[in-house]
Amino acid sequence: MSGDAAGVSARVALHGDLLDFGGAPGWGEVETPAVRWRPDHWLLIEGGRIVSVQAEAPDEGWARHDHAGRWILPGFIDTHVHSPQLDVIASYGTELLDWLTTHTFPAEARHADRPHAEASAALFLDAMLAHGTTAAVVFPTVHAQSVDALFSAAETRGMRIVAGKVLMDRNAPDDLRDDVDVAEKEMEALIGRWHGKGRLAYAVTVRFAPTSTPAQLALAGRLCAADPSLYMQTHLAENRAEVAWVRELFPEARSYLDVYARAGLLHARSVFAHGIWLEDADRAALAVAGAQIAHSPSSNLFLGSGLFGWRAAEAAGVEVSLATDVGGGTSLSMLRTMADAYKVQALAAERLTAWKALHAATRGAAEALGLGAEIGSIEAGAAADVCVWEPAVGPVAARRHEVARTLHERVFAWMTLGDDRNLVETYVAGRSMYVRDASLRSE
Ligand code: GUN
Ligand code: ZN
Repeated sequence: MSGDAAGVSARVALHGDLLDFGGAPGWGEVETPAVRWRPDHWLLIEGGRIVSVQAEAPDEGWARHDHAGRWILPGFIDTHVHSPQLDVIASYGTELLDWLTTHTFPAEARHADRPHAEASAALFLDAMLAHGTTAAVVFPTVHAQSVDALFSAAETRGMRIVAGKVLMDRNAPDDLRDDVDVAEKEMEALIGRWHGKGRLAYAVTVRFAPTSTPAQLALAGRLCAADPSLYMQTHLAENRAEVAWVRELFPEARSYLDVYARAGLLHARSVFAHGIWLEDADRAALAVAGAQIAHSPSSNLFLGSGLFGWRAAEAAGVEVSLATDVGGGTSLSMLRTMADAYKVQALAAERLTAWKALHAATRGAAEALGLGAEIGSIEAGAAADVCVWEPAVGPVAARRHEVARTLHERVFAWMTLGDDRNLVETYVAGRSMYVRDASLRSE
């Protein structure tokens, strides 16, 4: 981790080609007024916030950083990722339910050890920053101390993190199960310690319907009803065997989503990972509630879960954000995630534009989380969570970049060929928190 204490109050100016969105691009539109492309501009940061964007260079009262020819974008927002799962990323040979028991639960159980939980949280957040992600909705583990470790590490780094203790009181190993009373006490204490502290927010975190009893789901719903500022995150309809299991466990529910709806867990601050195996009635219910789906294409491909129907979700009015779902997903890179999202749509004969993908990883995610004024855009007043990118790294990408005829072609090639190697620098609330080449740092 890097960054300086003076950075927050310093006046910093970044020069480069600024790319973000003023609105939402439509499906299939490669030319859209939603894109804001401001080449050769200066981004002025003071007190951790963006104060202006201008074509003229600012005076010498600003620490000026010239990134001519590089792109400056809002930091990415990963709306579904598991901080304890770096140890199981790229684990061979299983679909979801076997993957959980074979690989994932043992790795999460190790977070009962506090030093391990602290080291794991620090490694995870530094890796996010090194991939250009400055905000995330995160699953730690069932252990309250894993939540403390994650929030505390996020606070140190100034990151915008939404997280909560994972609820699991059945169908899980002994060392990962809680119960309703313990969960209630731990959640109350964690919410008191962290919710609304700086840039942190608490999410009532149900792992997924099969690992919570109806009593625990009801507790989660009561908490959401008692404080509408809390988020809720869980998994939904990811894998066919999982969906069949939920049908057995909750025969009274109309669908998997309905299990959550009946418990009071379907609302505007709900983030549902995956949502692959849904019916039209589910998409309609998600849209009415204003809930979002965190589409996780890398994970869906790696675990063989299925192909997400983004177009159908869009047509129904459901908000869709993008997520890595590491360790089911195989990279923390939101660029790789966008590339995978394009390929998933291609298999369904649909075309995902670079704009649609990039919007879902920035402004779209921010708005779906109710954080549009703070993150996801390069706008005066927003937090200065921004990243500087190389549009092309290596001879193949450089050649493709050179021959591209339109901005969409260039951005699409960047999202398809790029990854963390394209990242030059990451700023969080105006502080430089990652730099590819330390000799570039001039603060
Ligand atoms: N469903 C329940 N838990 C998990 C998890 O950790 N990862 C994924 N991808 N799906 C889940
Ligand atoms: Zn997940």
